[in-house]
Amino acid sequence: MRVMTLAGSPRFPSRSSVLLQYAREKLSALDIEVCHWHLQNFAPEDLLYARFNSPAIQTLVEQLEGADGLIIATPVYKASFAGALKTLLDLLPERALEKKIVLPLATGGTVAHMLAVDYALKPVLNALKAQEILHGVFADDSQIADYQHRPAFTPNLQQRLDTALETFWQALHRREFSVASPFTQQGAAYV
Ligand SMILES: Cc1cc2nc3c(=O)[nH]c(=O)nc-3n(C[C@H](O)[C@H](O)[C@H](O)COP(=O)(O)O)c2cc1C
Repeated sequence: MRVMTLAGSPRFPSRSSVLLQYAREKLSALDIEVCHWHLQNFAPEDLLYARFNSPAIQTLVEQLEGADGLIIATPVYKASFAGALKTLLDLLPERALEKKIVLPLATGGTVAHMLAVDYALKPVLNALKAQEILHGVFADDSQIADYQHRPAFTPNLQQRLDTALETFWQALHRREFSVASPFTQQGAAYV
């Protein structure tokens, strides 16, 4: 089973990225293969000038095709998700998230913007045809004790992350079952 993590902060190290680091460590311990991407993997001009054919974008798209799930993290910028992440998502094929389970994570300076994932990021994930977008996790900055060295969170945030990762793991296994199901395959023949 393969999962991609995608860090959408223009900064590194970053609070939203450390949520992904935690997720990677948890999933790897469960024998899930995880490949990681972050915005710094891309030349800024490839993103700004929408170079769909840049080698880094093509490699990302190929790896995403082979993934069962995606965990995507973003900081909240101006009550939405990071614009730099949008420049990357704009370069993905229209059905890039088809058949994939997606878990969104976000960090922000104020809980007043905790719904930014729901009203801003989820519609974009939906436009990319994600099969299932799970209830995300929002962390405010005060809940992240360390993001420079090792992930360190308040107990409340850690528990919410653990629950979200367990739900993600269960969704991945449901997906695996449905992909192998003879009903799914038979249904597909009539499409
Ligand atoms: C340009 C900019 C705009 C921001 N706008 C918001 C905002 O509208 N709402 C909010 O809750 N936090 C806002 N923040 C705070 C960040 O979302 C928060 O510090 C986040 O944890 C940073 O994540 P990162 O370290 O992964 O980049 C903003 C930060 C920056 C730099």
